[in-house]
Amino acid sequence: MTTKAFKRYLITSALPYANGPLHLGHLAGVYVPSDIYVRYLRQRDRDVISICGSDEHGVPITLKARNEGTTPQAVVDRYHELNKKAFKDFGISFDIYSRTSNKVHYETASGIFETLYKKGVFIEKTAEQYYDEEASAFLADRYITGTCPHCGNTSAYGDQCEQCGTSLSPSDLINPVSTISGNQPVLKETKHWYLPLDRYEEWLQKWILEEHKEWKPNVYGQCKSWLDQGLHPRAVSRDLDWGIPVPVEGADGKVLYVWFDAPIGYISATKELTPDWEKYWKDEETRLVHFIGKDNIVFHCIIFPTMLKAEGSYILPDNVPANEFLNLENDKISTSRNWAVWLHEYLEDFPGKQDVLRYVLCANAPENKDNDFTWKDFQNRNNNELVAILGNFVNRTFVLTHKYFDGEVPKITNLLDSDRSVLEEIKTIGGNVEKSLENFRFREAIKTGMDLARLGNKYLADTEPWKVIKTDPERVKTILNISLQITANLTLLLDPFLPFTMEKLRDFLLFSETSWDLIGSPDLLKTGHTIGKASLLFDKIEDDQIQAQLDKLMNTREENEEPASIAPQKEEITFEDFTRMDLRTGTIMEAEKVPKTKKLIRLRVDLGFEHRTIVSGIAEYYEPESLAGKKVCVLANLAPRKIKGIESRGMILLSENPDGSLHFVEPSEEAVNGSEVN
Ligand code: MF3
Ligand code: ZN
Repeated sequence: MTTKAFKRYLITSALPYANGPLHLGHLAGVYVPSDIYVRYLRQRDRDVISICGSDEHGVPITLKARNEGTTPQAVVDRYHELNKKAFKDFGISFDIYSRTSNKVHYETASGIFETLYKKGVFIEKTAEQYYDEEASAFLADRYITGTCPHCGNTSAYGDQCEQCGTSLSPSDLINPVSTISGNQPVLKETKHWYLPLDRYEEWLQKWILEEHKEWKPNVYGQCKSWLDQGLHPRAVSRDLDWGIPVPVEGADGKVLYVWFDAPIGYISATKELTPDWEKYWKDEETRLVHFIGKDNIVFHCIIFPTMLKAEGSYILPDNVPANEFLNLENDKISTSRNWAVWLHEYLEDFPGKQDVLRYVLCANAPENKDNDFTWKDFQNRNNNELVAILGNFVNRTFVLTHKYFDGEVPKITNLLDSDRSVLEEIKTIGGNVEKSLENFRFREAIKTGMDLARLGNKYLADTEPWKVIKTDPERVKTILNISLQITANLTLLLDPFLPFTMEKLRDFLLFSETSWDLIGSPDLLKTGHTIGKASLLFDKIEDDQIQAQLDKLMNTREENEEPASIAPQKEEITFEDFTRMDLRTGTIMEAEKVPKTKKLIRLRVDLGFEHRTIVSGIAEYYEPESLAGKKVCVLANLAPRKIKGIESRGMILLSENPDGSLHFVEPSEEAVNGSEVN
């Protein structure tokens, strides 16, 4: 918990790359939590701005453009618009959604580079790098592929092998190839500017490890491990033609490294938003918080703060609540394998159900460890929590108020102790949600928030107004007054999480307060106020809707089944080695399954000079009935072996596909049984 009192809040959310659509992993990890936090602060009437935008530089964008035969600008234009709309559709309430290809950003990023350059912060270093002579271009890491020295994957990238996950540098690759020309690249000298992180190590140690012990363990731990391993100077320029030109003499063809310019995008976007931007970025009384995913930790906790520190006039983040990753149906979300739920597609399939997804992603957020999204859990949380707890309580309160009091808020006649403790409980829950939010514990916050609806249900179940109305209508006035107060409190308490639904509920109640400070007031809805008509807040999600989503995913999986790799060649042998094998053609005469086995079939094979019994492991791929008459190749001089009590004399030759399936090596019809295969 932060001890310092802050005057204003500057909340940033990682700028997503504009090279693909957004999926629910993005929402769960970064944007749902940041939006909840920002909405909460606004309800508290804090001076807060929420900043985001598209990250439009970097090599993957240029590669995508090349693959699609278009320009990087066209790629980012398309996804900037798509993603901006997706955020808006899900109620992610940024104050600005900017982009890093705009003019303000170019000026801001160049300006900061120049300042650091003039201060002599950078180290200039010439080093050898791969160069494509045909394309006359230096090759950024992702433009080089080759064989991974660790696992032998022949299409590893210059920065990483996606098969074994090892991070690489281009010089590690065996047989490097330029993806532009397909040629082997040559090494050539090139100059770059390096940020000497090592010189800031001591300062970072103190600032993070001593002064920010309150950061989440996953964030603190990652920082500590980077610092323990020792920092090194890091290049902040690249040889590329897409990006912000390095603003110094003699830097033709060089641009700022994407991770140098992108976080500066937060500053540029603030400038675009308000002429008052400096008060957010340069006043110690601002609380700067970066919401990110775990793959961004080093950039936001070590590199960007070092840049800002070196510049000298900016504040540093007070917290960086990074989340872990969300998996989907027990598998890593992957854009290239299309294993994802795309936000725009979700809305086509579940129109109007933004809040359901926000709810599930928050309740199941990968806050401290990687987590799994399953459609079954989505359905259960909708049906058993949103419908059965929240929706049900609100609905009963509306129905009863209209039925007994024509929609008018009845007056409290006599408060029992049990009523008083319910009113107390509203306050307690409010305070607890607040504490959770202040500490970035969003799962806990939403669960506690739902406790208020649980409390409401319990109150109705305990007081049974539908029975009491017959004997003591005065008492029912108090019961429904309190139920209505709970309902009004819900609109305040759950607004950060379920903004669409709570707005709807306020409309039903004809109630317009949103201030957080009102939570716990016992008379949010004044006696005599008339509430409006309500419809259901949530409806049940049926099995077939869930099955349709699962089917969609399974289809993608089949389309994307990666061909398993072909087995590498075995060690060399001599011709003599080969001639020791007696290979013959034959014909299967009979075949039957070996009882109590899954794979084995017992075959009688006509080898011309004799009939043999051979046991073969093909039962998963061939029916015994289909085998009689089939021509086969047999290794005839293999030493006999007992398999399941049957003596097998020889081996049938089979080819094995990468998926493990087996297929006969069939001689042609003319081959006579017993003829030699050479
Ligand atoms: N585009 C990056 C990603 O998706 C995040 C950039 S965050 C910023 O991983 F700080 F650089 F803006
Ligand atoms: Zn590898």
